[in-house]
Amino acid sequence: MKVLITGGNGQLAKDLHKILTLEHEVFSLGRAQFDVTNMGKVREIVNQVNPDVIIHSAAYTGVDLAESEEEKAYLVNSYGTRNVAIVSEEIKAKLCYISTDYVFDGRADSPYKEYDNTNPLGVYGKSKRAGEQLVQSLSTKYFIVRTSWVYGLHGNNFVKTMLKLAGERDRLKVVHDQIGSPTYTVDLAKFLSSLIQTEKYGIYHATNMGACSWYEFATAIFEESGVSIQIEPCTTEEFPRPAPRPKYSVLDHLAIRANGFEDLRHWRDALRDFIKELNRND
Ligand SMILES: NC(=O)c1ccc[n+]([C@@H]2O[C@H](COP(=O)([O-])OP(=O)(O)OC[C@H]3O[C@@H](n4cnc5c(N)ncnc54)[C@H](OP(=O)(O)O)[C@@H]3O)[C@@H](O)[C@H]2O)c1
Repeated sequence: MKVLITGGNGQLAKDLHKILTLEHEVFSLGRAQFDVTNMGKVREIVNQVNPDVIIHSAAYTGVDLAESEEEKAYLVNSYGTRNVAIVSEEIKAKLCYISTDYVFDGRADSPYKEYDNTNPLGVYGKSKRAGEQLVQSLSTKYFIVRTSWVYGLHGNNFVKTMLKLAGERDRLKVVHDQIGSPTYTVDLAKFLSSLIQTEKYGIYHATNMGACSWYEFATAIFEESGVSIQIEPCTTEEFPRPAPRPKYSVLDHLAIRANGFEDLRHWRDALRDFIKELNRND
């Protein structure tokens, strides 16, 4: 298949490109070549490439900044997504929109299923949810794939931040009252690779299996990388941020199971592999 990936310089897109090229002809385009907010450009390039599938990974991902740049966040995450949805529909391509656990408010105490009610707390989550709604109303062949706590080799993420901080300090406080599932880009990319070959359209939750707090995640990062540092759990209130975050955003993988896909491995196994990969690339 011919696959076009938007947001080509992003951390997920880079690993997607690497994994999809094993089986497909891939066009991964960054913002400079394919600005999703520019409808004319989106149409021109999509018509040139004529892909069978578009994986729409581009997004305004500044969760805190979005609180003060609301229109920019909506422009990219909602209207940019609308543009991609309209054009993919025009050429009858499948559309795979990458979305987020932040569409939920986090007040649940058991994992969210794909068709549970959404209620995003902040601008980023609201603008991504609006993107989902536009995909659902404009596209007939869509996958919406919600993921969470993403990390990979390319780009800034929590794992890299923790390792960097460990090199600068000998004590660290990390939030212990937000629970979610870390997700390795490589594992998500492998799942997306099998998903897009099917016609099993709909909403999917795709994260590494299992759940933890940011504190537990940080502890595991240090254990896996053999870093010794004093780490203390703390509350969200101790680290006020502009954007509210869901307290509990674990995603149940009902759609993966029901549609017979292989689930992603446990987050701890994925983290172990990632740390090895990180060391190899040092
Ligand atoms: N990171 C997470 O923890 C997480 C969690 C859940 C869901 N997601 C979703 O997963 C997807 C991939 O995230 P990621 O972690 O790979 O994010 P990322 O590294 O920030 O990549 C996003 C990419 O989108 C590009 N972009 C921004 N505005 C654009 C525009 N107008 N036109 C075209 N491209 C544009 C950015 O380009 P520049 O480099 O030029 O800014 C960036 O390269 C996103 O849809 C995100 O919402 C991420």
